[in-house]
Amino acid sequence: MNTQTKITPIDFQIVTQKIKDSKLESIGGATIREIKKLVDEIEKSTGERFVRMEMGIPGLPPTKVGVEAEIEALKKGVAAIYPDIYGIQSLKVETARFVKLFMNIEVSPESCVPTGGSMMGSFAAFMTLNRCNPDKDTSLLIDPGFPVHRQQLKVLGQKIASFDVYNYRGDKLKDKLESILSEGNISCMLYSNPNNPSWICFTEKELKIIGDMCNKYDVIAIEDLAYFAMDFRRDMSKPGVPPYQPSVANYTDNYILTISSSKAFSYAGQRIGMMVISDELYDRSYPNLKKYYAKDLFGHSMIYGSIYAMSAGISHSAQYALAAIFKAANDGTLDFVEEVKEYGEKAKIMKELFTDNGFKIVYDKDDGEPIADGFYFTFAYPGFSGDELLHELLYYGISAISLAITGSERLEGIRACVSLVKRDQFKDLEFRLKKFNQDHPLT
Ligand SMILES: Cc1ncc(COP(=O)(O)O)c(C=O)c1O
Repeated sequence: MNTQTKITPIDFQIVTQKIKDSKLESIGGATIREIKKLVDEIEKSTGERFVRMEMGIPGLPPTKVGVEAEIEALKKGVAAIYPDIYGIQSLKVETARFVKLFMNIEVSPESCVPTGGSMMGSFAAFMTLNRCNPDKDTSLLIDPGFPVHRQQLKVLGQKIASFDVYNYRGDKLKDKLESILSEGNISCMLYSNPNNPSWICFTEKELKIIGDMCNKYDVIAIEDLAYFAMDFRRDMSKPGVPPYQPSVANYTDNYILTISSSKAFSYAGQRIGMMVISDELYDRSYPNLKKYYAKDLFGHSMIYGSIYAMSAGISHSAQYALAAIFKAANDGTLDFVEEVKEYGEKAKIMKELFTDNGFKIVYDKDDGEPIADGFYFTFAYPGFSGDELLHELLYYGISAISLAITGSERLEGIRACVSLVKRDQFKDLEFRLKKFNQDHPLT
């Protein structure tokens, strides 16, 4: 790494000083929020605008029908009233409709439960699933993944198994899962699809493998759909018309889906998502649950045990917002996919700027097919570790996060999030990447 470079797009002395002041042991080991703080400081001191790719927050306005429904609900006085813990009826009904129309999966409204963002959904799922059977006390994370899921398991004091799926795509996934699940200690496995950070999307073949393994080893898949219908290679925008959002739910009843409103509907601030439990799992009895909850029934324990203990219900007005958003999507009056396509279009341009200047896309294929353009992509530069590259890019006004904190084994890699980058910054990005490439020539 050439830290002797004195003429960099962002003042060399200031960046060096700010990195030192941050007291971070390594930039690669820093959390997303720590990187954000450091870049805020550098921007403040230099007056230069960074190409900010570290945080996965939506860069679009919130879905209007949601805001309008929420205002109306507030005017009617819902803020004064505790919402039912299992969710308002219209939200449950519209969620079940949404799952049918956009996934072609049948669930009853009863099995659709609001959570404080999908993060709370996975937290409650881990909490409950690891109490069903004393022999199954470990959650499997299919990595790379969203670092907070690992954090949730750590906070819960629960055991974690994980592997980087990069080398186990397609048929290879079966043997890998078989080798882990046959140990008998795995209660559940979580993956996001599309995946944060790599944007890989599991193929139908892979989802079938996951579903079959869940059936064979009695493991529950927690399918994190934070980026619902955002694999823009396929148009999943039409209610009731294929193709649908792919799902493990086509292959097993052992599933919990977590559907986020944050990215697909740009509704992150209101912290609402939906947990969808398969009807079969919802009604299942696990005698061990009685140690922790009033009943041995899974759905009952989830709602009246875990979710109740965490929050006693989800923001009343936000439930009206999400009900209205789902209804509009279901009725075909809101094309939510069209609204977020901008992310994919920006990713296509930005990836090209990177690859034109010597960078490589790290996770680049879905079982042979080129990876989609979406909310995130991963990149590396020959000769650099991810940590070194993140560090060096700060001098070029570019911020991102290291794949090291995502459970990835590709330690040369960095995750870029396109959402906050404005199109008017593409020129700056191009200039900075060119300069980086000139300063670090490839042989
Ligand atoms: C894979 C994944 N899951 C969950 C979340 C969080 O979703 P929510 O805002 O609904 O809690 C994110 C947000 O970045 C994510 O990337």
